[in-house]
Amino acid sequence: MAITLDRLVSLVLLVQFVLLCSSYNVTSESTEEANALLKWKSSLENNTQPQLSSWTLLPRNATNPKPSTSPCTWFGISCNPAGSVIKINLTSSGLQGMLHEFPFSSLPNVAYIDLFDNVLFGTIPPQISNLSKLIYLDLSYNKLSGSVPPEIGHLTKLEFLHLVNNQFNGSIPQELGKLKSLTMLGLYINALEGPIPASLGNLSNLAILYFFDNQISGSIPPELGNLSNLALLQMDINRLIGPIPSTFGNLVKLTELYMSENQLSSPIPPELGNLRFLLKLRLGINNLFGSIPTSFGDLKNLSLLELYDNGLPGSIPKEIGNLKSLVNLELSENLLTGSVPASIGNLSKLETLFLRDNQFSGTIPQEIENLFLVVLELDTNNFTGFLPQNICRGGVLQNFTVSNNHLIGSISKGLRNCTSLIRVRFDGNQFTGNIFEDFGVYPHLNFIDLSKNSFYGEISHNWGRCQKLTTLLLAWNNVTGSIPPEIGNSTQLHVLDLSMNHLVGEIPKELGKLTFLVKLMPNGNELSSGIPQELGSLTDLEYLDISSNKLSKSLPGDLDELLRLIYLNLSCNNTLESLEKLNLSHNNLSGSIPTSFARMRGLLYIDISYNELQGPIPDSKTFKDAPFEAVEGNKGLCGDVRGLQSCKLSSTHISKGSHKVVIYIIYPLLGALSLLLAFFGISLILKRRKKEWQTKQSDVNNKELLMISTFDGKILYEEIIRVTNDFDAIHCIGEGGNGSVCKAKLPSGDVVAVKKLHSSPPDDATTYPKEFLNEIRASTEIRHRNIVKLYGFCSHPRHSFLIYKYLEKGSLAAILSKEEEARGLDWNFGTAKLLKPDSSNWTALAGTYGYIAPELAYTMEVTEKCEVYSFGVLTLEVIKGEHPGDFISRLLSPSVMEEVELKDVLDQRLAPPPSHFEDELINILKFASACLNANPQSRPTMQVISQRL
Ligand SMILES: *[C@@H]1O[C@H](CO)[C@@H](O)[C@H](O)[C@H]1NC(C)=O
Ligand SMILES: *[C@@H]1O[C@H](CO)[C@@H](O)[C@H](O)[C@H]1NC(C)=O
Ligand SMILES: *[C@@H]1O[C@H](CO)[C@@H](O)[C@H](O)[C@H]1NC(C)=O
Ligand SMILES: *[C@@H]1O[C@H](CO)[C@@H](O)[C@H](O)[C@H]1NC(C)=O
Ligand SMILES: *[C@@H]1O[C@H](CO)[C@@H](O)[C@H](O)[C@H]1NC(C)=O
Repeated sequence: MAITLDRLVSLVLLVQFVLLCSSYNVTSESTEEANALLKWKSSLENNTQPQLSSWTLLPRNATNPKPSTSPCTWFGISCNPAGSVIKINLTSSGLQGMLHEFPFSSLPNVAYIDLFDNVLFGTIPPQISNLSKLIYLDLSYNKLSGSVPPEIGHLTKLEFLHLVNNQFNGSIPQELGKLKSLTMLGLYINALEGPIPASLGNLSNLAILYFFDNQISGSIPPELGNLSNLALLQMDINRLIGPIPSTFGNLVKLTELYMSENQLSSPIPPELGNLRFLLKLRLGINNLFGSIPTSFGDLKNLSLLELYDNGLPGSIPKEIGNLKSLVNLELSENLLTGSVPASIGNLSKLETLFLRDNQFSGTIPQEIENLFLVVLELDTNNFTGFLPQNICRGGVLQNFTVSNNHLIGSISKGLRNCTSLIRVRFDGNQFTGNIFEDFGVYPHLNFIDLSKNSFYGEISHNWGRCQKLTTLLLAWNNVTGSIPPEIGNSTQLHVLDLSMNHLVGEIPKELGKLTFLVKLMPNGNELSSGIPQELGSLTDLEYLDISSNKLSKSLPGDLDELLRLIYLNLSCNNTLESLEKLNLSHNNLSGSIPTSFARMRGLLYIDISYNELQGPIPDSKTFKDAPFEAVEGNKGLCGDVRGLQSCKLSSTHISKGSHKVVIYIIYPLLGALSLLLAFFGISLILKRRKKEWQTKQSDVNNKELLMISTFDGKILYEEIIRVTNDFDAIHCIGEGGNGSVCKAKLPSGDVVAVKKLHSSPPDDATTYPKEFLNEIRASTEIRHRNIVKLYGFCSHPRHSFLIYKYLEKGSLAAILSKEEEARGLDWNFGTAKLLKPDSSNWTALAGTYGYIAPELAYTMEVTEKCEVYSFGVLTLEVIKGEHPGDFISRLLSPSVMEEVELKDVLDQRLAPPPSHFEDELINILKFASACLNANPQSRPTMQVISQRL
């Protein structure tokens, strides 16, 4: 009995032991998985490990009697009931690191691995083949590179394989053909090369095959025609050559077939007509030839058909009218001929129709009026006859282009009320009709080209109401009347070509309001009077052709301002473009050529022929390289151009010329000098540069000339003194370090801001170093819409002042220094302002910045990065709520961003920002300090800043 009892006890103990062992068994397996995963975690970049903070082992202690050694509760980990990992889902977790320590051999049961959208780099280790139960593998949107390991072919249970958007190179391993269970294979946006393995034809379960945007070459294996379950096949943007296999006609489940942007060359196989479920077919940008198969008429579900940019000949089959589901039809850039079949009018769902750059002839089919088209492009064909009258019947037509055909008659009346229009090209036809009566006001119109037709009538003042118009081209018509000043209200205009018409009257000064204008061509008309000096504010202007008009008046008087500003743009050496072509020929411009022409360094082409000009040709490469034709037909030009006499022989002109030199070279230099005064107080800078002062400024030594300004000198000076009541405090809006800023309303109605300098002009101009002069000059030359414009300067023993464009809001400093207004600019608002460069606040903010910035901008080397620096200061000012002052130098000391605490920087008057703004603010601060780098080269560019923000 005792024995029996003993046995019973031992039996119980044994059972307990077995139970213990089996539970230990489970524990040890999951512990192994946990440790392996932790090993991978520790291989990730240190800063990304916090994303996996739940990945940790909990040891046994007093409060926690059950030790947790299982990963099953960790973020992104799922286990089976036995406690073994089956799924790892760490999508978009910001993980940065490699896969080399990934526990491929320690996860025997894992079936799903989803690492989509992280920053994994390096190669996929071949050990991946150990994941024998893997069904789902997504490594897309990482930075993985190297070749796709052939070992993936061992993962025979794999159904889903996505390696999209990485940097994989090498060829597609033919071993992928062994993945019999695969339904989805995504390889797009990589750098894969080599041919498509024919073995992929074995993937009989494949429904989706994507490998577009790689460098895959060779011809398409006909075996792909065996993929009888394929629904989507996208292989566009590769280097495939040869034919489209006719076996593709077997892919009867296909709904999308994309093969565009390759080098495929063959006729389009008529078998594609079998693909009854096809919704989208893209074959554009290849070398396909042979006509469009009539079998395409069977693709009853097709909504998109793109065959553009091939060499397709023949006509459009009339069967196209059967494609009742078609929405987009793009057949441009082929060799298509004949007339467009009337059956096109049956495509009742059609929205876009591109037929441009073919050889279509005949009339535009009347039936097109049945369609509610959004886009109709028929350019560069041989279409004849009239435009269908009701082409805009649907009221949705936005893009309507028929340029370069043989169309006649007037623009159909239907277009007058076609307010949906955005882009219109009728150029290069034989249209007639009254341009004033036939065109309405199009609120969305962006681009209109009516050039090279026989339109007549006057330019409608209504064009000024087209607020989105960027391009207005009316050249080579019979337009009469004068240029309506209202055009100046169409402030988005970039290109205005009115050339070769019969326009009379003056060039309206309102054109000076078109601040985005890049090209202005009123040449070849009968315009009279002078060139309005308001054109001088067109700082983006690159191309100006005023030739062949009846302009009179002397050139310098009218162009002084214009040339000064163009010159200023050029020499700022920033991204602003400069005037490249200037054609003033065939007018009656008189006087001598301002030597300031010589400073237009960007000028590539000049034509001043057939005017009344005299005196020397400016000393510049543009003039020296100019052909005689560009200067001929004047009254008495001399100089270093072939065909002109040398100036030494015509001394009368020299004296005139040298007088001009005084005005156009010396004056700006002097202006620069007077600007110096603005910085006279900044002794710090001057001290730092003291040792460089030895270089003498020899060109400028005449003190008398300091009295002259670039404006209308004396008159303006006296006007400003008068309207500001000798700088009475009532008129002054602010006090800066170097002077006070006053608002001056001039008798002309213009309002300017005048900054009166405290210090008087230096006794001896020659004591300033050349380098410093150049810097100051460059600062006056910055012309950017986000920086306040410096109009000019006056220098006088009693008063020296700078004249700026007046901006309403005053300075940022003023707003921030007032408590309640500063509160108004709270963190949400402030951050949003910095983060949304396109918001309307931006311009105001930037303008304000410019307003206060000059003395800041001028304290450092003026380079293209000067704006970047000022931007940094402004950013700090907005965040700090006051001018950063000494804080800038603190910020610039090495590794300070770690020391400076956010709360030290923030405006103390505001409640601390919500925590989700803190990171943003810190980033912005880091960015701002990068902008303040003492070395301009190390500052980010404005483009980088706008992208990052
Ligand atoms: C213990 O581990 C072995 C081998 O890994 C396994 O076959 C067995 O099923 C495990 N026991 C339990 C109770 O899970
Ligand atoms: C993480 O930090 C430790 C200690 O600072 C260092 O030894 C290790 O190399 C770092 N690991 C990575 C991946 O950067
Ligand atoms: C015991 O472990 C738990 C979980 O790790 C922890 O929160 C707790 O502070 C530990 N207690 C002691 C006394 O160490
Ligand atoms: C992983 O998680 C994401 C986000 O929750 C989800 O969209 C995705 O389907 C998951 N992947 C797998 C394989 O379960
Ligand atoms: C198109 O018109 C041009 C000029 O009228 C003509 O030379 C050319 O042969 C025409 N092409 C076709 C295909 O009709």
